[in-house]
Amino acid sequence: MNNYLESLNGKTALVTGASSGIGKEVTLFLASAGVKVLAVARRENRLKDLADHFPEEISFLAGDINSSEFIIELEKIDAFNVDILINNAGLALGKNLFKDSNDEENDLVLNTNISSAFKVAKRVLQKMSHKKSGDIVNICSIASHEVYRGGVVYTASKHAFRAMSKALREETYGENIRVISISPGLVKTEFSKVRYQGDLEKAKSTYEGYTPLAAQDVAFQVLQSLQCPRHVNIDEVIILATDQAGASRVKRN
Ligand SMILES: NC(=O)c1ccc[n+]([C@@H]2O[C@H](COP(=O)([O-])OP(=O)(O)OC[C@H]3O[C@@H](n4cnc5c(N)ncnc54)[C@H](OP(=O)(O)O)[C@@H]3O)[C@@H](O)[C@H]2O)c1
Repeated sequence: MNNYLESLNGKTALVTGASSGIGKEVTLFLASAGVKVLAVARRENRLKDLADHFPEEISFLAGDINSSEFIIELEKIDAFNVDILINNAGLALGKNLFKDSNDEENDLVLNTNISSAFKVAKRVLQKMSHKKSGDIVNICSIASHEVYRGGVVYTASKHAFRAMSKALREETYGENIRVISISPGLVKTEFSKVRYQGDLEKAKSTYEGYTPLAAQDVAFQVLQSLQCPRHVNIDEVIILATDQAGASRVKRN
């Protein structure tokens, strides 16, 4: 088995949204596999704490992925020139019906989950195309496959992200560039705290009465996909809690 898995030791990675949840755990898994990771998110103190776990492997740059100045800053330090991209930063805001939703919040979700994720992927891909090598991992969602009431903007954004992944496969096959979509169901992270904008009771109730996925469960799938031999592209992983069978189907006590 160990001979089957590819070593990631010495590779380089860019992880967006590394300050919490899935991005943080993926960063730790990659660093423990010997990958040099550039961790990106807005909360600098969180990134600093993360880097303290693996000071040799993890460096960080704090900034807002939706800011063009930050994209330029990343370009200046050659941050897009990596072997692995974990395109992870994302969010949902609220669960209002679409007719009652807020335009500014909708724009923030669409900008983060689509426009900025696309910008990052494009810049990394330009470098990978030149080197004819690289792996792009897009953290999609069960909401990339299904829709639900109160999820018009989020599910639309995640469908778009998955469509981008699939279409990118059409442009990269035969080029030694792998594009991997990982679609988790409910994962216990800060996602619900952000979605419900600080309403901790509501956020907590999302994960009550069953065992949700942990960020580590998703990070493990990311690592496994990357460790497959280079002729293997894990196009799509859907990972759900055992008690979840679809976007809206969760068995609670
Ligand atoms: N949790 C779930 O149930 C679930 C299920 C399926 C898919 N996902 C997807 O998984 C990804 C990670 O979510 P998570 O569950 O790990 O949630 P999380 O704990 O809230 O993490 C989100 C990360 O994205 C970063 N981020 C958000 N906006 C950003 C911006 N404008 N610029 C830079 N970084 C930004 C956050 O960092 P800062 O706030 O420090 O900037 C944070 O590190 C998202 O794309 C989400 O859609 C989550």
